[in-house]
Amino acid sequence: MSVLLEVRNLTKVFVTPGQTPVRAVDDVSIEIEEGSTFGLVGESGSGKSTLARLIPRLIEPTSGEILYQRRNLLAYNEKQLREVRQEIQLVFQNPYSSLNPRMSVRQLIGEPLYIHGKAAGAALDQRVLEMMELVGLKPEHANRFPHEFSGGQRQRIGIARALILHPRLLILDEPTSALDVSVQAQVLNLLIDLQQKLGLTYLLITHDLSVVHYMCDTAALLYLGTVVEKGTLAQVFRQPQHPYTQALLHDVPSADPDQRMLENISLESDIFSARWSGTGCRFAPRCPANQVGACTTIEPPLVPVGEGHMVACHLVHPHLNP
Ligand SMILES: Nc1ncnc2c1ncn2[C@@H]1O[C@H](COP(=O)(O)OP(=O)(O)OP(=O)(O)O)[C@@H](O)[C@H]1O
Ligand SMILES: [Mg+2]
Repeated sequence: MSVLLEVRNLTKVFVTPGQTPVRAVDDVSIEIEEGSTFGLVGESGSGKSTLARLIPRLIEPTSGEILYQRRNLLAYNEKQLREVRQEIQLVFQNPYSSLNPRMSVRQLIGEPLYIHGKAAGAALDQRVLEMMELVGLKPEHANRFPHEFSGGQRQRIGIARALILHPRLLILDEPTSALDVSVQAQVLNLLIDLQQKLGLTYLLITHDLSVVHYMCDTAALLYLGTVVEKGTLAQVFRQPQHPYTQALLHDVPSADPDQRMLENISLESDIFSARWSGTGCRFAPRCPANQVGACTTIEPPLVPVGEGHMVACHLVHPHLNP
């Protein structure tokens, strides 16, 4: 397998006059293998959507690198970016607000192809119908409008729209969190099915650990903009090393893995009420473990604990402390 997307030391600082700059994404490095599903997990405000928007350069990073097929996207000009953005598509959380209510299903799904000048007329209609079939929509839905559909069907429209340009990488930003639980499973199964049929690679963003467990090959946990643990599904779920990951997984020991929502755990207080002073470990103000001096003075580096398993915690790497 080859790496399709690599993000190296990516950082985005939002600067608003008169306010403290927000390091929304801070020195994040991830690698996504072609054909795999990479889960990006984190609480609200941890920087997930910012990272999603940085990858196709919908917003510009402050520093770091974005390598797609080993090519540096930050060196691309407008024309090259337009090309590559056909291969990297985003699917958003809310199928209610992300679809223009005045456009028919046919127009919504066909629009990307039309805008890129790839098809028009009967050829465009044909492609739209193919996409509708692929995502489980009926041909007679083509002339209807978003408000006539349920949440799950609207998300199918969003997925068809993202697929019509033949992307290789889909960035799915909480694709099912606005949907009813029963409908969530249908959309996730559709995504699994499409991945197999089309050889797609997914970056799946979620705050729902059960979605990660169901869908992902590898995962990274984001905390206040930084990766605190990453590894294969087995490493992260069966041998969690970071106190944050452990708390997330162990807080509901008897619960079915399918019920593990970040919202349900006691750590989920307002992420910014647990103020981080700016030095030491970001998780220290909420960390349930017995801390050492370094926890509040030195930012822990992300260091391997096994093949492909990385953890940023002084307690896991005590030998690194002075
Ligand atoms: N355009 C912006 N200007 C200033 N700050 C921003 C901007 N966009 C995001 N932020 C801040 O960056 C941080 C990360 O936001 P982001 O939306 O990436 O989080 P998230 O993990 O996607 O959260 P959620 O789960 O709620 O979607 C937050 O503190 C947010 O307020
Ligand atoms: Mg978000």
